[in-house]
Amino acid sequence: MRHLMNPLDFTVEELENLFVLANDIEKNPAKYAHVCAGKKLATCFYEPSTRTRLSFEAAMYNLGGNVLGFSDAGNSSAAKGESVADTIRMISCYADICAMRHPKEGAPLVASEASSVPVINAGDGGHQHPTQTLTDLLTIRSLKGHLDNLTIGLCGDLKFGRTVHSLVDALSRYKGMRFIFISPDELRIPDYITEMLDEKKIPYEEVIRLEDKMPELDILYMTRVQKERFFNEEDYIRLKDFYILNKAKMRLAPQDMLVLHPLPRVNEISTDVDSDPRAVYFKQAQYGVYVRMALIMTLLELTA
Ligand code: CP
Repeated sequence: MRHLMNPLDFTVEELENLFVLANDIEKNPAKYAHVCAGKKLATCFYEPSTRTRLSFEAAMYNLGGNVLGFSDAGNSSAAKGESVADTIRMISCYADICAMRHPKEGAPLVASEASSVPVINAGDGGHQHPTQTLTDLLTIRSLKGHLDNLTIGLCGDLKFGRTVHSLVDALSRYKGMRFIFISPDELRIPDYITEMLDEKKIPYEEVIRLEDKMPELDILYMTRVQKERFFNEEDYIRLKDFYILNKAKMRLAPQDMLVLHPLPRVNEISTDVDSDPRAVYFKQAQYGVYVRMALIMTLLELTA
């Protein structure tokens, strides 16, 4: 039995199979409409979510399966002090697979160790968000045609942004990658990530100004400043509007650059960018359904 805690849990070849399956699901949805008939997905969300939880639920319904779960830990027995390990033992009696989001780093891993069904990390604190990374990789692969030889700018909250940490980990396995980390000093990418890039001899730069780097980018990955991870309101208010991507800044970018964002956005992308064909963040959310369908099938060993 396999779980998904980190995008590196899958080899590059396994990811390739997953993306091929996801693209086939996109083209031939009817072929997959009953693949999970009789199966149940539990969504255990101890933290708020719109996209991840609902796209998992849509994915399971699209496959002909059913869904149960909770979207607020306050309505579960976690509110009475039940541990994650005991909760997953219960979920294992009720469902065939579980997607779990938790504010504590490592909580889904603890769950996977006590589980008798596959567990998917749907975001753990500021640590990892592997299914967002699968979504991001599928979006880039589908729209650019490849996942190598790219210059990718990651902009905003690189300290707390778990989607950034997972994406850099995953892309570091492809050849010809170059990363440009764009953030204020206080929200720099963690050292363990730059140390990993140094070790693999992958080029990267850390800069503060977005405008200077726009002309060099194949992908611009914008992120929200994560209010919920700040220790004080004052710092959040000072940093929250540090970057605002707008039409004027988009004029500096190559014609084939793509703008991705895991969403939700707050102010970091002006709504006047939404109509730019390079802004693919809503399309990205749709790819999230296809890749989660492919993932559920893969973990339930229903791909043969
Ligand atoms: N991208 C993402 O994780 O969004 P939600 O928090 O709405 O699930």
